[in-house]
Amino acid sequence: MKITYLTAIAATALLMACTQPAPSTRNVAQSEQASSKQQSIDVSKDYHSFANPDEIIVTHIGLDLTANFTDQQLIGTATLDIERVIEGENTLILDTRDIAISSVHVNDVPIDWDLKPAQPELGAALHIELPVGAEAVTINYATSPDASGVQWLTPAQTAGKQHPFLFTQAQAVHARSFIPLQDSPKVRVTYDAIIRTPLELRAVMSAANDPNAERDGIYEFTMPQPIPSYLIALAIGDLEFRAMGERTGVYAEPSVLDAAAAEFEDTESMLIATKEKYGPYSWDRYDLLILPPSFPFGGMENPRLSFITPTVIAGDKSLVALIAHELAHSWSGNTVTNATWRDLWLNEGFTTYLTYRIMEMIYGTPRYKMEAVLGYQDLQNDIESLPPNDQILAIDLRGRNPDDVFSNIPYEKGALFLRELEQKVGRENFDAFLVDYFKAFEFQSITTDEFIAYLDKTLLSDFADVLNRERVMQWIFEPGIPEGAPVPESDAFAKIDSARSAWLEGELNASDIDTEQWTVHEWLYFLNNLPRSLDDTQLIELDQSFSLTQSRNNEIAHSWLMIAVHNQYQPAYDRLFNYLTSIGRNKLVKPLYRELVKTEEGKAFAKKAFEQAKPGYHPLTIKANEGYFED
Ligand code: BES
Ligand code: ZN
Repeated sequence: MKITYLTAIAATALLMACTQPAPSTRNVAQSEQASSKQQSIDVSKDYHSFANPDEIIVTHIGLDLTANFTDQQLIGTATLDIERVIEGENTLILDTRDIAISSVHVNDVPIDWDLKPAQPELGAALHIELPVGAEAVTINYATSPDASGVQWLTPAQTAGKQHPFLFTQAQAVHARSFIPLQDSPKVRVTYDAIIRTPLELRAVMSAANDPNAERDGIYEFTMPQPIPSYLIALAIGDLEFRAMGERTGVYAEPSVLDAAAAEFEDTESMLIATKEKYGPYSWDRYDLLILPPSFPFGGMENPRLSFITPTVIAGDKSLVALIAHELAHSWSGNTVTNATWRDLWLNEGFTTYLTYRIMEMIYGTPRYKMEAVLGYQDLQNDIESLPPNDQILAIDLRGRNPDDVFSNIPYEKGALFLRELEQKVGRENFDAFLVDYFKAFEFQSITTDEFIAYLDKTLLSDFADVLNRERVMQWIFEPGIPEGAPVPESDAFAKIDSARSAWLEGELNASDIDTEQWTVHEWLYFLNNLPRSLDDTQLIELDQSFSLTQSRNNEIAHSWLMIAVHNQYQPAYDRLFNYLTSIGRNKLVKPLYRELVKTEEGKAFAKKAFEQAKPGYHPLTIKANEGYFED
């Protein structure tokens, strides 16, 4: 495995030398500017890591960590196995952030180390001078209670209210806040871990988990496949396991277990359908871990064990596209990985495309089409509001924190690009291309430019009659959606449009709209496409007819609350306060704060909610929103 990987790196370096991004030839001033500025980018360089994997590379990490819930620290050792890429090189550079190092050893002998001054978004480089011939180094350290990648929850913040909880979230650049390592997606490691916990808690990791492991306070894990650092993950809590299928199951707090297992019971069918279509599943088991509501994302594709927000347990499987998405990352992202954060669209665009395909296979074409239209509308909103440079798939992130640039571009624009390729070459041919692609780059991390080189050898050669390279470059290096791109459509939404218009024009009372058969997606489409400004009579009519303020579906509630805030519809504000203080998923709360702070009263309300919620929010959610309240 190691040899293949190093050979792959050497090949990558070669490839990179000859595949600089080609300048766009399209005659759009703004776009030209955007892509020509990128020409100074070193596409193989990870601008978000201090590490030197081109000289010395870490290949395996052994962890022995104790979770101290009283001091909110992980304390212990990380032993890093290294290989010299350049012979004779002895300076190992690691990434760290807010980590307290007590000593560094090689073969039990203490050696010198030098922690450089911290930089605001990237943390501090740790330089270690290795003795000649050293093959492993052990670092004794403790994390900070404020580690950006770890959230320590009090019992009150959990479902069961009895026990504390801990979880990590490493993507994009937060693994370095709980392990000193080469925190770049270019670097892949295998790992093993001993995790020591309070006796009554269970630890799980993005590794082989044993659901029957005795709760004795010591848990051992191995991850035999090489993964990038952002996929190293740990959670500790009062967790129980329930099998859903032969190789799928769910970990959750006891009171959430039944609902979660029922909501996500199709996970096994999704796994089977995906591997039949796109090639073998490389990770043995696929389990879900349901987190407390402060989890800052919808889901995180930690290998073998996706981390999932409880806000998608809706009771009707309406939000399970999230599971299809995290599962799909097992192919696009975890098997073939973006080499730098500029290449995130290779992870998220491919995964979003696969998500739609999985949803279609499992729930049928009408549902997939509805979800595709909703995704497309999200994309259009971003295209209207983001500066041109942030609309580029291969985005220039130099000097920026990848967390600050989160948008629908890598997701929905990436997926639309692949949809266009699919439509041009035909579905069967495109599926065969994807199977080959996942195989060709299995367990490798690749750049956008390597992807283009692969496309040159495959689709662009085999289907030269229907594809052209210039168009591919436009998709990848220019802002906006290229003219003539596929436009998702859904028949089911036509009747929603007529109902909405009839109501708006006063031809129909809200209570007379036949909503009996509407699914969550139809509701979302109805709400998201109402005019921005509605008067009180209209808002009251909608709310009284459909109990929107009381909706238990977190996505519907989100859409309705956005409308309520924009129109200052006071009857929804209690629910809004409750929503903001009980959910930490940034995608759901941030747009509400953004809308609220536009008015003085709104800002005061938002500030009160934020202050109350803050002790329970994840560091990322705090960071993403606190700017709204700085004077
Ligand atoms: N890997 C992402 C989450 C992520 C991306 C974290 C970039 C940090 C940096 C995950 O797979 C994801 O995309 N989650 C989405 C799911 C949705 C698109 C179905 C989310 O959390 O909303
Ligand atoms: Zn994703």
